[in-house]
Amino acid sequence: MISYGGLVYLITGATGTVGRPLLAELDGHAVRPVTRDPSRLPGAVAEPDVTGVTAVFLHPRAVGLGAADLLVRAKAAGVRRVVVLSAVNVDDPLDEQPSRANGDRDTEVEAAAIGSGLEWVSAVAAAGMVEHGHRPEFVAALMARYERENGRPAHVSGDVENVLGRPARSFAEWVADHAEYVR
Ligand SMILES: NC(=O)c1ccc[n+]([C@@H]2O[C@H](COP(=O)([O-])OP(=O)(O)OC[C@H]3O[C@@H](n4cnc5c(N)ncnc54)[C@H](OP(=O)(O)O)[C@@H]3O)[C@@H](O)[C@H]2O)c1
Repeated sequence: MISYGGLVYLITGATGTVGRPLLAELDGHAVRPVTRDPSRLPGAVAEPDVTGVTAVFLHPRAVGLGAADLLVRAKAAGVRRVVVLSAVNVDDPLDEQPSRANGDRDTEVEAAAIGSGLEWVSAVAAAGMVEHGHRPEFVAALMARYERENGRPAHVSGDVENVLGRPARSFAEWVADHAEYVR
């Protein structure tokens, strides 16, 4: 494993839908992919060894209830940051999270990251927007607004109908009218 600038990334769930493109993004950096079958990936390991690691990518399906223990070991080993693959359902009651039936432990894994004492982040979208050219101040304000509105029903007003004297058009109508652009 080659280390670039001393940063080493431990990637759990590395063979999955998210893990593979993440490894591609990190091409040229020192990564330690984790998979139950290391023969599937060069340099991969079966157990999440945190020795020498700078940051851990935590995949809720792959680490499950082992997340808290992994992060205790990570902190003791000097890992600085944990990045969590979050899910839209993390704040829902556990019995209303269908993916738990498939083994996902999204709520517990995110809680383990927050309680780990490590720097943590699950706001990957913000970093993605900045990378794509949006100004950091713009992204920070947008994220603050999303956070404020989180869990509130969307505001719906009758303004369009009041002003135009006819109901607003539906999204489906708009898409149909602009199909050539959408395609
Ligand atoms: N909209 C949302 O908010 C949303 C929606 C869907 C999913 N999610 C999140 O994203 C995750 C799914 O990501 P993904 O599509 O990359 O998953 P994926 O393609 O299923 O990959 C997960 C990887 O984890 C490993 N794995 C799977 N089951 C495991 C088990 N029982 N024990 C240990 N390792 C296991 C597998 O690697 P190996 O076989 O190589 O070991 C697999 O490649 C979900 O768990 C959820 O947390 C969020």
